[in-house]
Amino acid sequence: MTTDARANDARAMRRLHVITWGCQMNVYDSARMQDVLAPLGYAPTDRAEDADMVILNTCHIRENASEKVFSELGRLRPLKQVRPGMIFAVAGCVAQAEGREIVARAPFVDIVMGPQTYHRLPEMVARAARAAGAVIETEFPAESKFDHLPESAAPAISAFLTIQEGCDKFCSFCVVPYTRGAEASRPMPAVLAEARQLVAGGAREIVLLGQNVNAWHGDLGNGRSGGLGRLIRELAAIPGLLRLRYTTSHPRDMDADLIAAHREVPGLVPFLHLPVQSGSDRVLAAMNRGHTADHYRRLAERLRAARPDLALSTDIIAGHPGETEADHQATLALIRDVGFAQAFSFKYSPRPGTPAAGAPAQIAEVEKDRRLADIQVLLRDQQADFNRGCAGKVIKVLFTGQGRHRGQVAGRSPWLQPVHMTGPASVIGTETAVRIIEGRPNSLAAEPLPQTEELACA
Ligand code: SAH
Ligand code: SF4
Ligand code: F3S
Repeated sequence: MTTDARANDARAMRRLHVITWGCQMNVYDSARMQDVLAPLGYAPTDRAEDADMVILNTCHIRENASEKVFSELGRLRPLKQVRPGMIFAVAGCVAQAEGREIVARAPFVDIVMGPQTYHRLPEMVARAARAAGAVIETEFPAESKFDHLPESAAPAISAFLTIQEGCDKFCSFCVVPYTRGAEASRPMPAVLAEARQLVAGGAREIVLLGQNVNAWHGDLGNGRSGGLGRLIRELAAIPGLLRLRYTTSHPRDMDADLIAAHREVPGLVPFLHLPVQSGSDRVLAAMNRGHTADHYRRLAERLRAARPDLALSTDIIAGHPGETEADHQATLALIRDVGFAQAFSFKYSPRPGTPAAGAPAQIAEVEKDRRLADIQVLLRDQQADFNRGCAGKVIKVLFTGQGRHRGQVAGRSPWLQPVHMTGPASVIGTETAVRIIEGRPNSLAAEPLPQTEELACA
């Protein structure tokens, strides 16, 4: 089909292939882009070869994340030679940070759009069909995309909901404040409306998303603003909603009311992803994190006092500029003291435009590798211990789909562990008590329960 025919026949059946990298917010954004394009006749396809449009929703957080965009574009390019009418769009954080470079390195790209502009996709598609060069939308628009997005087509049993976006914290190493822009909170009535609609569509768990989700301070609908603890209490009252999670939090924004919500709201899972980045006060200061290692230790204690079965997960960076061996040891000590059920750890990656990238005391790659390996051994052991500790216990699992093997169902524990069980498909979409028969390093194996038993886990 020619591009003119495409423009004229906007409602014809078309296929859309979306490739997503990065955080859960990108996963949410990709789903919303599909919702925005559905009225134009775009239906999802798993195969780029069949697609009329391919969207690469990108991540800029570390160098290897960014580079994937260019290698994927190289791989996709021949498709366009076969089907010249195909539209290539690059979205997300690399588009925001390196829009011009993308067009220079890959001139066959038709659309480059930042994370705040994808509500304008229909207009961009129409312009791309007419334009000779690429359509670039990387300004932070005055209007909020959330006011212009259609309803989600088919929410998952565990559905994402963005309530806050952007970051004003400017950690020394991080690109997010530049790619996602300033912190903004969606108003509570809009969040509640989207949550009700997700639950009506079959969602049983909602994962509240934000780059600093616990900095949420949205309008409560009465001209006053409130914190995340308040929003969680309102959401928990929605009939049919079984579980709530929120991610990602900053230690500085963990206020008393939010900690109290962990004690008072049964549907709020006993699991929290709370990135610490380092256990050294010197490095935390250099990172501009605004908290100390002991502040984090105390926070962990307060959370566990509020909810004794609460488990923590975290993010750690190995080899931030200026990090000494003593600093590295302090990170290992903090990990031992706090104990994590799960964690992500990364080698420090210098990112263009961030303060740490220009710092003089960069750490050698081999040293970063060694420190990361130390950290990962410890974290892996802690995760394996936590999972092993669940064996024999009875826990409630939210089943979300079929397992990998025939007759198997799969879901998540309240601590986000993947759980597999040979059992009836009728449990899918329910939170069901099961017995854990094995705690493996990365998942739990379960069996159905003959009768109601007491619930408990490590
Ligand atoms: N909004 C989240 C972080 C998102 S990025 C928060 O504030 O916690 C996810 C993780 O990537 C960060 O927690 C950090 O551990 C890691 N990260 C960010 N920039 C990095 C860099 N330049 N090098 C290595 N890891 C980085
Ligand atoms: Fe990045 Fe720090 Fe903001 Fe998190 S709080 S998004 S690590 S700048
Ligand atoms: Fe990556 Fe942007 Fe998320 S840089 S981690 S996709 S906010």
